Amino acid sequence: MEKSNHEVIILGVETSCDETSAAVLVNGTELRSHVISSQIMTHQKYGGVVPEIASREHSLHLQPVVQQALDEAMMTFKDLSAIAVTYGPGLVGSLLVGVSGAKAMAYAAGVPLIGINHLEAHIYANFLPHQDIEFPLLALLVSGGHTHLIFFEAHGQYKILGRTRDDAAGEALDKVARTLGLGYPGGPQIQRIAQEGDAQAFKFPRAMLEPDSLDFSFSGMKSAVLNTLNSARMRGETLSVPDIAASFQQAVVDVLVRKTMLAIKRTRVKTLLLAGGVAANSLLRQTLSETLGKQSVRLVYPPPILCTDNGAMIATAGYYHYLAGDFAPWTLNAVPGLNLT
Ligand code: KG4
Ligand code: ZN
Repeated sequence: MEKSNHEVIILGVETSCDETSAAVLVNGTELRSHVISSQIMTHQKYGGVVPEIASREHSLHLQPVVQQALDEAMMTFKDLSAIAVTYGPGLVGSLLVGVSGAKAMAYAAGVPLIGINHLEAHIYANFLPHQDIEFPLLALLVSGGHTHLIFFEAHGQYKILGRTRDDAAGEALDKVARTLGLGYPGGPQIQRIAQEGDAQAFKFPRAMLEPDSLDFSFSGMKSAVLNTLNSARMRGETLSVPDIAASFQQAVVDVLVRKTMLAIKRTRVKTLLLAGGVAANSLLRQTLSETLGKQSVRLVYPPPILCTDNGAMIATAGYYHYLAGDFAPWTLNAVPGLNLT
């Protein structure tokens, strides 16, 4: 397929955790292809992601996934304007497969390389289906590894207002799910089984920290659930798994919503972006939508497939870096502990 001069065509590559994914995006809005090869089935029997297995799987799948993405977009490497790849945060072995693969592809194709921060990309997943998003805005990033409230003044200009001091929201959901025997990943399992439970059955604590703090703490809330289960076991009682799941999901959502509302009040923004795997949670979406609707604040979130790890969000973030002329050197390395600054 011929590329017209004004077209910006980005190949996005994601391998930070347990999804190998590639997408071809034209002009930041037209997703021509999106391939996600998930390793969930492989890791499920271990109750979580095994890093060594994850990098091996990425090595096996990266090339075919990229080729499929190009084929579906009816393009070749020479049609591309740039290749964008996640360089952190994530599992070091997994990141290295993506970074070295993308470097080799970009070098061979003679196109620039763009290094993408995975956390930023989760937020940018919102700009793919919604091109009319207005700044300033607030983003609630809730994933398996992070829980951040971020104030954005413009593209690339942001400030972290609050973050978790211990477990991320998704991590707490995953750990509780594992204890309840619900399997991995836990967030979707908790959401599924919570539908049959009573969210008021257990009064788990809501950790709000200092009254004006925008930070989060989910580890004590998670421990409260584990203590409840242990005490019941010692008494020889069996508790209702759906009731526990529903009550814990409600506690997590309550804290996320209350802190987000505090941040909105403080920044007076008129737009909230939801991002990260936990943004797929329907109770969180519904509660925020009801609460924000009363205050004329616009709630934006990506479809579930763009909430969890995917190559389309990497390509979208890559598009904005491309416009800013922000390219990576050939020495780009994986940075497992990369954060938003
Ligand atoms: O963003 P993500 O795919 O990977 C990271 O970058 O961490 O997020 C994964 C997290 C997991 O903790 C998973 O349990 C959670 O997102 N998650 C959900 C839902 N779908 C995924 N949590 C609650 N409800 C969901 N529907
Ligand atoms: Zn992620």
